[in-house]
Amino acid sequence: EKGGFDTYMLKEIYEQPTALTNTLIGRLHDETGEVNLDINLDPASFKRISIIACGTAYYAGLVGEYLIEQLARIPVEVDVASEYRYRSPLVSENTLAIVVSQSGETIDTLEALREAKKHGAKTLGVINAKGSSMTRELDDTLYIHAGPEIGVASTKAYTAQVSAMLMLALWLARARNTLTDEQAKELLHAARELPRLVEEALAPERVEAIKKVAEKYAHARDYLFLGRGVNAPTALEGALKLKEISYIHAEGYAAGEMKHGPIALIDENLPVVVIATESFLLEKTISNLQEVRARAGKVIAILSDGDTANAVHADDVLYVPRAHEMVSPVVNVIALQLLSYFTATALGKDVDKPRNLAKSVTVE
Ligand code: F6R
Repeated sequence: EKGGFDTYMLKEIYEQPTALTNTLIGRLHDETGEVNLDINLDPASFKRISIIACGTAYYAGLVGEYLIEQLARIPVEVDVASEYRYRSPLVSENTLAIVVSQSGETIDTLEALREAKKHGAKTLGVINAKGSSMTRELDDTLYIHAGPEIGVASTKAYTAQVSAMLMLALWLARARNTLTDEQAKELLHAARELPRLVEEALAPERVEAIKKVAEKYAHARDYLFLGRGVNAPTALEGALKLKEISYIHAEGYAAGEMKHGPIALIDENLPVVVIATESFLLEKTISNLQEVRARAGKVIAILSDGDTANAVHADDVLYVPRAHEMVSPVVNVIALQLLSYFTATALGKDVDKPRNLAKSVTVE
């Protein structure tokens, strides 16, 4: 049932090209620039968006915030569900509350959804599990169609959730006319390339390189992950994945925040993963990377294919396929999933059943 893989997690990592094909299929039409999500809500009617989720799904929500604000120019706030449900949120009928959940059963997210509804928000779910509790209470559901996820650490659901957030950003943008036809077509095309790019990110030589780096640093006590802009949440997700399955303490930070505290942690024992793929802010990220290096931190740079110029600043380089910046979180996170996977297996941990964690958290 693991299809020849040692673990469900590895199987699910490799299922991502197929999962993403299923998420995207029939929904984006790059010839016409049309986005067809079959959602029975009026995308032009919302003045504010609230995204609510827990854990990995929350990080998908943070990517969603960036994408929706950039592409559709609507104010977005993102909350962890356990906070949202108790903070008397300000909502109106012009508020769209988007809940993101793989299982559709997480109690905090379900209660937060009820809270949003009670205050008059329209509600939309980005959900994987068909017919789950949330889908029965939502105004509408955008299924991500990632297929069943058995591994406790979320992988294919995350990349499918992020892809769904991109589709929602485009759906809102089209209705609000915030993009030119050319921009929309370019983004739709970039999104449709995702299954192929993720397939490329899983090429054997890349996986082998990640495994080597994972083994080299498997005995680190702590890890730091840095990223900027749309990839700041990628850093948070990379850190979460590592702590969940390898039990190494890891923190994710927006790269520009490093100076404001975490820089104090840097010494020769600290591996720092810096997501430094193609971006209008790449230069700034590279200067953060040099700051880590200057303090003897071990830099593991995630670079776009062909970026040999910046490789000189890193102790280890993991190359990832070049992607449009707006879709790059999906491509970049693959390397981080594999890094945590091989770190955990090098340490002999049971990646499918990490200690103290449950696949779905149905009690508060
Ligand atoms: C991370 C992980 C958890 C879940 C979180 C939300 O790998 O599995 O952080 O993402 O518990 O679960 P869902 O998406 O089912 O609401």
